[in-house]
Amino acid sequence: MNRLGPEDYQSNRHIRKILQLARTSRGDIFYDLGCGRGQLCVVAVAEFGVKRAVGIEMHRGRAAKAAQRIQELGLADRIEIRNEDFIESDLHDATVVYSGLGEIDEDVMFFERQVRSGCRIVSLFLPFVGVLPAAADYPFYLMKVPFRKTRDFSLWSSKVLFKEASVDELYQELDTDREYRYDKRTFKRLMKERFPKM
Ligand SMILES: C[S@@+](CC[C@H](N)C(=O)[O-])C[C@H]1O[C@@H](n2cnc3c(N)ncnc32)[C@H](O)[C@@H]1O
Repeated sequence: MNRLGPEDYQSNRHIRKILQLARTSRGDIFYDLGCGRGQLCVVAVAEFGVKRAVGIEMHRGRAAKAAQRIQELGLADRIEIRNEDFIESDLHDATVVYSGLGEIDEDVMFFERQVRSGCRIVSLFLPFVGVLPAAADYPFYLMKVPFRKTRDFSLWSSKVLFKEASVDELYQELDTDREYRYDKRTFKRLMKERFPKM
């Protein structure tokens, strides 16, 4: 599935929120899946001192611009930009991963297979459906591998909305969140699959 979206970038304030939520520090190797201009990698290296950062960007022009920017900033020895679909990329050394992309069917299995135990994954707007976040700083959620999963919708939604809510109330919240754009059909299908008693 093609997830190329608009060039919608996080502010430095939000980038710091993401990296702080994952308690990112000098021992980490940071990956941004869908890195656009590469700013998350720049902040991860320049402000959080990570050993290495990798930005993966499927859009050729955006990846080229990011790589050029990293060169100009003199950070090419610490930041690698890969022009590919992250699902085809090698993430084995990642310790912190940010994905601002909406979840699709294969994501949970992909991360379970691809990243090492202990890796922290930060998502935007929602954790993966059925995965319990370890922490949150809305709109960001932190998940740790191996994932803690639940088939109990009430438990999951209470961690997502920070209150008890019915399925309809959850959909209503998502629909009224001005910032949140999502593929409703995929999301509803994932909800039905992962919460069979819902
Ligand atoms: C909205 S931008 C976010 C950039 C940056 N992560 C930020 O938050 O500031 C998302 C980027 O992800 C890229 N993208 C979408 N699906 C992708 C995929 N499967 N693999 C790699 N890049 C992808 C898009 O081309 C787009 O540039």
